[in-house]
Amino acid sequence: MCGIVGYLGKKEALPLVIDGLKYLEYRGYDSAGVAVHSGKKIEIVKAVGKINDLEQKLEQASGKGTCAIGHTRWATHGKPCLKNSHPHQNTDGNIVLVHNGIIENYGGLKIKLEEEGVVFKSETDTEVLVQLIGRYYDGDLAKAVIAALREVTGTYAIAVLAKDRPNEIVIAKKSAPLCIGIGKGENFFGSDAIAFIKHTNKVVYLKDGEVAVLTPKTVLIKNLQGKKVSYKVNNLSLDPSSIEKGEYPHFMLKEIYEQPRAIQDTLDGRISPQNDEVILTELDKYQEYLLGINKILIVACGTSWHAGLVAEYILEKHARIPVEVDYAAEFRYRFPVLDEKTLVLTISQSGETADTIAAIGEAQALGAKVLSIVNVPASTIARDSDMVIYTYAGREIGVASTKAFTTQLIVLSLFAVYLGRLHHSLDDAAASAILQNLKRVPNEIAKVFNEAKNIKKIAKAFHKHSNALYLGRGVGFPIALEGALKLKEISYIHAEGYPAAEMKHGPIALIDENMPTVVLAFKGRRYEKILGNIMEVKARKGKLIVIASESNDGIKRIADWVIHIPDASESISAILAVVPLQLLAYYIAVEKGCSVDQPRNLAKSVTVE
Ligand code: F6R
Repeated sequence: MCGIVGYLGKKEALPLVIDGLKYLEYRGYDSAGVAVHSGKKIEIVKAVGKINDLEQKLEQASGKGTCAIGHTRWATHGKPCLKNSHPHQNTDGNIVLVHNGIIENYGGLKIKLEEEGVVFKSETDTEVLVQLIGRYYDGDLAKAVIAALREVTGTYAIAVLAKDRPNEIVIAKKSAPLCIGIGKGENFFGSDAIAFIKHTNKVVYLKDGEVAVLTPKTVLIKNLQGKKVSYKVNNLSLDPSSIEKGEYPHFMLKEIYEQPRAIQDTLDGRISPQNDEVILTELDKYQEYLLGINKILIVACGTSWHAGLVAEYILEKHARIPVEVDYAAEFRYRFPVLDEKTLVLTISQSGETADTIAAIGEAQALGAKVLSIVNVPASTIARDSDMVIYTYAGREIGVASTKAFTTQLIVLSLFAVYLGRLHHSLDDAAASAILQNLKRVPNEIAKVFNEAKNIKKIAKAFHKHSNALYLGRGVGFPIALEGALKLKEISYIHAEGYPAAEMKHGPIALIDENMPTVVLAFKGRRYEKILGNIMEVKARKGKLIVIASESNDGIKRIADWVIHIPDASESISAILAVVPLQLLAYYIAVEKGCSVDQPRNLAKSVTVE
């Protein structure tokens, strides 16, 4: 999604803004642009493509100044091209703006403005907003921004410059992330604090409907009624080195290899020394509520939704509470049946996914309490939820989610035991067995990395295929979905995940000697059944890549390729099996020469509907 950065202070602003934009590249974008205020005029430079393309253009530009804004655009309204990229300016050229979000009523506003004689230069919804601000501007930029924002519906994070106000930037937000970094004699802002964390860790998270007037030394926040509001300065602990690739060629590979550490950090301090209780002090206040729930509704998107599907199996098994799993975008627009006895559980890496945020509001309005599993501290979802359990994966930069997913599975497993104990559906021995197994996961994942060479060979053999099927049963089914998603998003190979038993109800028609099928066949009570599915694929000459438990040597006689994972219980095997699927997708994408960390059309965090 679009990224916004800005600086005003005493230093040359453009290098800081460009550096900030580079840190936001992970969000996904197709064009970029900056505007710098030189004191007398505002110079705008834009480029289609990457930040490097923008930097090349800047070499020819003359603009210098201590106040600048920057933007990476992920196209929604209007194709990626120079005229649609940001910053945009009004017809008079005295107002310049960058925007993340969607102005939903732009059509009507555009007609109105055109009738008044405004000639639009782009196909974007954003241009309507800059024209509108220009219409209202009489020397008070914040007043004009507020007046314009009161006319628009939709979502926005914006930053606005006025030609005759060289030391001021006005920013505002509604349902799109935006935070301010307070420095000494300088201020920064960004869609993500990562954009300026090298310079200051003093962060103010702007709330929806707030407008901030920034100068190098001051921050004034108002609401849309123009009234001054107070704000809290947070000391953010975010290590800038955690957002470097280090020795790895891609963030995705680095993040795959970080999983043992990320899982250890997520487990630390959450299991009692006797291994029989889960410690989630963040839920202490809500124990009585959690004891009274009779339904869990899990709401998420993408990979986090897959984690929710895994949770359905383990929560129903251990806590004996009925669970439903829904896509956030579907949940928010249907008429869900829930009440104060329903726990709505949302799962999100970024904590900024627009549909999940909206779903939280819906659920709370219907009387439910919301527990969220989130990776990014102080993100919108974390702030909006009644209860939060953090995953400690650390920053995830690669667009394809890896370590966030496995740490979500760990938190969900812990939560299933916690609820099982609370509802007396899990005895000491059963809880202890699960928790001891969970503690072994970091080491067992490290063993899976021994298969990397084998997986590379499989990737070489399969990267030219254009389709693939992923099959699993039980908890293996959502893992199959996740494996297929990883492959399609970074290698652009069409892949589908299915519950293996469903194969006979349609997908089996696709199987021939050109169709690779990845089967999750680890030991467990469904093993014999999935072996039957493997034989069905083989009988139709399909190519078989089987993820099997280490002790299953015999499978080599049936499968074309075998990837072994350590022997473990079914639900732990599911967590271990994710890792070879991530590596398989990664090496296939590398073989194909794809842009692994920034796949085409994708954004790291989907902050628009
Ligand atoms: C896929 C992926 C996405 C996200 C989805 C939800 O690899 O990363 O499918 O899982 O956009 O994002 P979060 O978890 O940030 O809410």
